Amino acid sequence: MSFTSNSAVQQALVIETSKAPFTLKSIPVPKPGPGELLVKVFAAAMNPVDHFIQAFDLFPNFKYPAVIGFDVAGEVEEVGEDVEGFAKGDKVFFEGQENKSEYDAFQQYALTTADTTAKIPAGLSYAQASTIPLTLMTAVIGLLPAHPIGAGLNPTLDPQVSFAGETALVIGGGTCVGQFAIQTLRYLKFTTIITYASAKHTSYLKSLGATHIVDRTHVPLSDLPSAVAHLTSESIKVVYSAVTAPEAQEAGYACLGRNCAAKIAIAHPRPEVPKRKENGEVIEDPEGRIVYSCYGSPHTEANREFGRLFWGKLAGMVEEGVFVPSRVESLPNGLLGVVEGAKMLGNGEVSGVKLVVYPQETA
Ligand SMILES: NC(=O)c1ccc[n+]([C@@H]2O[C@H](COP(=O)([O-])OP(=O)(O)OC[C@H]3O[C@@H](n4cnc5c(N)ncnc54)[C@H](OP(=O)(O)O)[C@@H]3O)[C@@H](O)[C@H]2O)c1
Repeated sequence: MSFTSNSAVQQALVIETSKAPFTLKSIPVPKPGPGELLVKVFAAAMNPVDHFIQAFDLFPNFKYPAVIGFDVAGEVEEVGEDVEGFAKGDKVFFEGQENKSEYDAFQQYALTTADTTAKIPAGLSYAQASTIPLTLMTAVIGLLPAHPIGAGLNPTLDPQVSFAGETALVIGGGTCVGQFAIQTLRYLKFTTIITYASAKHTSYLKSLGATHIVDRTHVPLSDLPSAVAHLTSESIKVVYSAVTAPEAQEAGYACLGRNCAAKIAIAHPRPEVPKRKENGEVIEDPEGRIVYSCYGSPHTEANREFGRLFWGKLAGMVEEGVFVPSRVESLPNGLLGVVEGAKMLGNGEVSGVKLVVYPQETA
């Protein structure tokens, strides 16, 4: 961690070395550079990747000691040079940056780039706003930006774009990513949105735009293509798989319509369908099916242009109800709540909600 520091210090949850436990430490408060904001973090949401990084050292060349956490909401504390449109005291939310500790969530103050930061719409709590960034980006990056980044369904966020009359499928609609994939397909005006999820989530997922639920507690993934064929004789134009297991990818791929340039976006940076040749080339599907991977960050070089466009419009879209935040499950003990949250994520104990911690409540 290298900080251009204010002289102030803060509490942060640090992973000292690869696979070390989360440890509470005092570290310097960073100073915002040009185009940046320093934000006092009031809510930080958790993602499965937090557990994967701490327990399995997920990313190659990860720098330790590290602060992680990718969903942040708080109040602007300091505005860097050349920033327009933000002032001290604004309530904002943003996505943390991989392998850049100063920009991440599990600390009391974090930096953010102003052009990928949005103001929290009135009526939304810090906790609700913190549930949005990473999972929403993962859904939209697979579906909206132009080929080859995403399926190209609406790269310019043109409100006139409509897929009325078309049918789409979301595998894992109960996941937070899947909930945003359903909402993205509703925004695109798909007429039929089928989702594979536990039946207990039915009324909530219908409120987000799903039209049909295939109950995952009764239908194994291997039977999903026939279950979908029972629900509709229409061709499936788009599949979003928020379940990354190979069998989910295979099931989604099998559901796609043939000879209609049908597309599948998978919430994984390296999808396994279609099978790759030994030299790594993707086998062209003679039936026109196309696979997109999703890397849910607005900060990578590839995603930056779409990311900036999207974050510029995000507050308005949330205000209009295009996207609603996930349901919150609050964890106690300030930053140390992350330790319990990571256990729950690792044990698969999180169902349809987002875990949120409150860094300012750290004892
Ligand atoms: N590529 C990226 O940039 C990126 C970014 C974020 C997330 N992801 C990945 O996307 C996936 C979803 O992330 P998340 O944060 O949305 O997860 P999450 O909300 O924590 O996922 C928990 C949910 O998964 C559901 N689930 C588990 N197995 C399922 C299956 N076989 N079929 C259908 N639903 C199943 C559970 O459903 P029940 O409620 O029915 O138990 C539960 O509600 C994860 O694999 C994550 O690693 C990737």
